[in-house]
Amino acid sequence: MSDQVHPGRVVLVTGAAGGMGAGHARALAGAGWRVALADVVDAEPVAEEIRAAGGVATSHRLDVVDRAQWDDVVAAVGETHGGLHGLVNNAGISRRLRFMDTTPEVWRQVMAINVDGPFHGTQACAPLMRDSGGGSIVNISSIAGQIGYFSPSYSTSKWALRGLTKSAAGELAAWGIRVNSVHPGLVATPLLSGSDGFVDSAVASIPAGRTGRPDEVTAVVSFLLGDGSSYMTGAELTVDGGLVSNGTYHRILDEMEGSL
Ligand SMILES: NC(=O)c1ccc[n+]([C@@H]2O[C@H](COP(=O)([O-])OP(=O)(O)OC[C@H]3O[C@@H](n4cnc5c(N)ncnc54)[C@H](O)[C@@H]3O)[C@@H](O)[C@H]2O)c1
Repeated sequence: MSDQVHPGRVVLVTGAAGGMGAGHARALAGAGWRVALADVVDAEPVAEEIRAAGGVATSHRLDVVDRAQWDDVVAAVGETHGGLHGLVNNAGISRRLRFMDTTPEVWRQVMAINVDGPFHGTQACAPLMRDSGGGSIVNISSIAGQIGYFSPSYSTSKWALRGLTKSAAGELAAWGIRVNSVHPGLVATPLLSGSDGFVDSAVASIPAGRTGRPDEVTAVVSFLLGDGSSYMTGAELTVDGGLVSNGTYHRILDEMEGSL
């Protein structure tokens, strides 16, 4: 796999103040991308860290549910960096609530950030990406967008993002823009904090025998942004240690201690 980068290419990462988004931003800057970090909280400390390490980075306040803020950030990125070639729709929230415990307010909030956000982002960024010669959009979904998952707001939002990816891929191909989705399994970040029991129990269904590291997701994001994936669009890549493909029988065999 190649994630070759032409020097001076520009990527915008949402949710870049912490968690996996900060990791993507650091790694992409290290690989030669100019990085615009956007978050509803201050991403400047991560941008400063990148600049101190010799990279090029700017930070931008952005609530992804607000289209006007998207337009301002895209204009600022165009002025500061001179173009846009990559977008990582990474910002997202999770509410682990069972179906009957999910209030309409929680449902709307999760759908707004996880689905409306990438929709606004794709519409706001696509014209600048087209005018920059094309590019790549990576939508961070989840394995909860590939299987039935107990928390309806999160699962539905991540299935929707998978659909948004394929819909946008069809239309934006004409502008030289590729759109793909990444489906991480369980990755140790603040998103999973306070769920130790849930995580420990879930590991029993992961053939790899552990949760994922953020850098293992970053590697796939980087590949999809780079020229090594130039003929991929509308695709989905699962990064889960085998949970979706083999989790059920892995756990069953484990419980039977290998005897059939
Ligand atoms: N951690 C996991 O196990 C896991 C698994 C599958 C998918 N994911 C997905 O990966 C992405 C990143 O997850 P993470 O674990 O790094 O989460 P995280 O909670 O550690 O970080 C999320 C970031 O998004 C930002 N954010 C939240 N709401 C925002 C908004 N309205 N506008 C702009 N920024 C906002 C937060 O400030 C934070 O910096 C999410 O989309 C998540 O659903 C995570």
